[in-house]
Amino acid sequence: MNKDLDRYILEHGTPESDLLADLYRHTRARSPYPRMTAGWMQANFLRLLCRLVTARRVLEIGTFTGYSAIALASGMTDDGLLHTIDNNDEVEDIAREYIERAGLSRRVIFHLGDAARVIPTLQEEFDLVFIDADKRHYPTYYRLAKEKTRRGGLIIADDVLWDGKVLDSDAADPRTRALRAFNDEVQRDEDVENILLPLRHGLMIIRKL
Ligand SMILES: C[S@@+](CC[C@H](N)C(=O)[O-])C[C@H]1O[C@@H](n2cnc3c(N)ncnc32)[C@H](O)[C@@H]1O
Repeated sequence: MNKDLDRYILEHGTPESDLLADLYRHTRARSPYPRMTAGWMQANFLRLLCRLVTARRVLEIGTFTGYSAIALASGMTDDGLLHTIDNNDEVEDIAREYIERAGLSRRVIFHLGDAARVIPTLQEEFDLVFIDADKRHYPTYYRLAKEKTRRGGLIIADDVLWDGKVLDSDAADPRTRALRAFNDEVQRDEDVENILLPLRHGLMIIRKL
């Protein structure tokens, strides 16, 4: 997107907190994959969605350094609980540090492990689920998350346009293939209503009927 327009958009929304700006810089400086962080435009949208559904229970699949986790948790009710899962113990310390600095330690439960194994063990009914881990497993995450989402709740999946690669029906790359399968599965699913928003790398917003 045009950088001036990008800045203008950010200047006309709730501003990013100093803590999240610091985490964003920290992640860019220290992580080999800084592009994984959501960024404020998307994180602010997720925060607002939590407010709109009065989210008390949220599941995040893919914590990374905790940027979107902090945004999600700050949009939840005061008695809310966010379960966030990542299988990479190298990001755990940064995520925990910033979640604590945000004053959210008691409202965020970090699960270290493979999401496909952790989700079935969670004894919760979620108001909102954010899918942002391994693209190859999006169809699995979707089925597992949907079972745990309340009727009227939301499932949000990030990166579903995958830089436009999803247009390639002959793609050999397993991530592109899985994302295409996921988008098609959601589209066929009569148990949900959905919209694919071209925000950042594409956000699929799904509401369970
Ligand atoms: C795109 S990043 C998440 C970014 C984060 N939501 C944010 O916006 O700050 C994806 C994360 O998913 C994690 N991940 C990949 N495969 C996973 C799996 N099978 N189970 C749990 N986490 C996984 C990676 O370690 C990585 O930290």
